[in-house]
Amino acid sequence: MIEFYASHKLAVWATAILLSMAGCLFYYAAFGPHAVSVHETGPGVLVRRFGVREWVCHWLMLLGFLALAGTGLAQLVPGPGLGHWGPFHGRSGLIFFLVALATLLGWIPDALFKPNDWPWLLKMGGYFSRDAEPPAAGRFNAGQKVYYWALLLVLTGLLVSAVVMEHGPHSPAGRKELFWCLHGLLGCLATMMVIVHAFLSLFVNPRAARVVRDGRVSRRYVEKYHSLWRAQG
Ligand code: HEM
Repeated sequence: MIEFYASHKLAVWATAILLSMAGCLFYYAAFGPHAVSVHETGPGVLVRRFGVREWVCHWLMLLGFLALAGTGLAQLVPGPGLGHWGPFHGRSGLIFFLVALATLLGWIPDALFKPNDWPWLLKMGGYFSRDAEPPAAGRFNAGQKVYYWALLLVLTGLLVSAVVMEHGPHSPAGRKELFWCLHGLLGCLATMMVIVHAFLSLFVNPRAARVVRDGRVSRRYVEKYHSLWRAQG
């Protein structure tokens, strides 16, 4: 796999991104969005889902990820500019990792698995049924918890592989070595995960996406999809 990736990096990335987007489109055509009937006006309609620190960190992670994915991909395009983005990418990658770690560690209590997560997982959160009542969930549902731990692992892998790469050759031939390819494949996996995460938040649960505006979402949405969580007003 590593050898195949080393010789077809751009094709692997393009296929992975297109397949993720096609999967999302296919899902949307088959199951559509989750509906919550609510008018979002008047007092008490919104509840705080992210505190100010969490909201700022989420934005920093989002923007940092886009910058890293862009500058990482730019290094895969053959040509004289190949090494141009490397130093910026490497330095901002370290800052991004620290921000992501601070954000994710703050969420550990909400991301630990609890007994109520198993019924959620068995029903796949009701995601593959058009009219299912969503299973009970706490602040994060079991799907979000799986995403959380997978992201933490992938980001750690990106950092470790980056540190090893930095001690090896940066020539085009050196870039075909194991840790360069591992870093690229992990970056590709992270990009697919972020595409699905964004799709679920923006299109399947549009009420959830409101959190990026000011950290608040509709009370009705929280009561339906995170019924075991007591939100603050
Ligand atoms: C954890 C944070 C990260 C760190 C510390 C980091 C660091 C690095 C470093 C040092 C390089 C080599 C640059 C050079 O010196 O030429 C690199 C390359 C690269 N990075 Fe990252 N990176 C991180 C996250 C990411 C993410 C999130 C992605 C994609 C979503 C990504 C994709 C890539 C790609 C595609 C390359 C080029 C690999 C190749 O030439 O085959 N990186 N990274």
